[in-house]
Amino acid sequence: MAGNRKTILITGAAGYIGSHIALSCLLSGQYSVVTIDNYHNSFPTALKRVTKLAQDALPASASDEDKKALEIAVHKGDISIKSDIENIFKEYESKGGIWGVIHVAALKAVGESGEIPIKYYENNITATINLLEVMDRYKVRNLVYSSSATVYGAPDNVPISESSPLRPESCYGRTKFMSELILKDVCDSNPEWRVISLRYFNPAGAHESGEIGEDPRGRPGNLVPLLAQMAVGKFPEGLKIFGDDYPTPDGTCVRDYIHVMDLADGHVDALGALPKDDIFKAQAASTGFGASGGKYKAYNLGKGKGMSVKQMVAAMEKASGFKYKVEVVGRRTGDVPELVANPELAEKELNFNAKRDLEEMCRDQWNWQSKNPQGYEGTA
Ligand code: NAD
Ligand code: WQD
Repeated sequence: MAGNRKTILITGAAGYIGSHIALSCLLSGQYSVVTIDNYHNSFPTALKRVTKLAQDALPASASDEDKKALEIAVHKGDISIKSDIENIFKEYESKGGIWGVIHVAALKAVGESGEIPIKYYENNITATINLLEVMDRYKVRNLVYSSSATVYGAPDNVPISESSPLRPESCYGRTKFMSELILKDVCDSNPEWRVISLRYFNPAGAHESGEIGEDPRGRPGNLVPLLAQMAVGKFPEGLKIFGDDYPTPDGTCVRDYIHVMDLADGHVDALGALPKDDIFKAQAASTGFGASGGKYKAYNLGKGKGMSVKQMVAAMEKASGFKYKVEVVGRRTGDVPELVANPELAEKELNFNAKRDLEEMCRDQWNWQSKNPQGYEGTA
């Protein structure tokens, strides 16, 4: 405990989503933040900026103690190495202990996962088991897990509810699915465990300050960061739209883009819901796994609204003022026509509310990219 804030460990906190989660946790006034990241796909600068953003949001009358509570305790470490995790739990044992963990760290590139599957299973599964083992030993059994809509594969129906069949189609997707299964089994083994998996749809945007945002290494594989980087002059060859012959209104794929700050706030909602026994009842119908007795639950985090590739291009053009060069090419292997969340369960049980719209998402993505054209490295 730091003051009356509960201490949360966030794995992978320096990354795109983790840094926004860290900020939401601090701004909520309820949590202090400890992090572990190996900076495989991120920069420590992000965490310095998160602390500054949180401190800047304090009223002028804030005390030094209030400011100190917003300093992130940053640990460089690799969660596939158990002792790196253990050192942190040991350190915090004498400081009031860690209340819960948000497990964000993972490798996440769908294509790459098929090329180096062992690395993906080691980093996403072995590392998750390491974390669970240490948590169990230190009796820290509150966990929020970063899952993905990718666990659904190609859905039979949209919008997708949590009870839809789980049939991931990539190695990456299977690491998320298997991690969820492991978490469910762990919850079934001991009623002290409380775990919520959050199945993210397509996160995009950035904190409105433009101080933190997505900074992928190399050419972005995802649509929105790619469009943002093109608008600052990178990749002049232009956008290749992967197929316009899908059974969708304009022929291009439809996705459920959710503002990353709404997604981040969803983690604060989930942490708040963890102690509530009633959300874990009637669990079988809501995870896609069937009946079980433990306190495990999965929720979709999406806006519940579909946007096509062409609509996203138009929205980013409006936000950035940049006219994209676009060419339609063949379909990308593994793409499905439409992925849209039914977010009602999270709204009802977690009090989740994806309030920011497409315009704010594109404005914030562009604000981040135009303020940091070379990402964190360019400004660190
Ligand atoms: P990211 O790569 O920006 O962040 C992941 C962070 O984890 C990075 O800072 C990386 O350095 C760290 N990390 C990876 N392996 C580690 C290890 N072994 N030890 C310590 N740190 C390690 O990715 P992101 O977009 O922020 O994604 C965060 C999580 O959300 C991931 O679990 C991902 O699977 C999930 N997710 C992401 C998306 C998306 O579109 N971005 C969608 C659904 C789910
Ligand atoms: C969106 C749309 C593309 C690039 C991925 C992962 C998923 C999850 C979120 C982690 C698609 C089209 C893209 C381009 C294009 N991540 N596109 N040209 O594929 O929905 O989801 O990120 O869990 O698991 O698969 O997101 O941003 O890659 O693509 O036409 O150069 O944009 O075909 O329809 P996707 P995306």
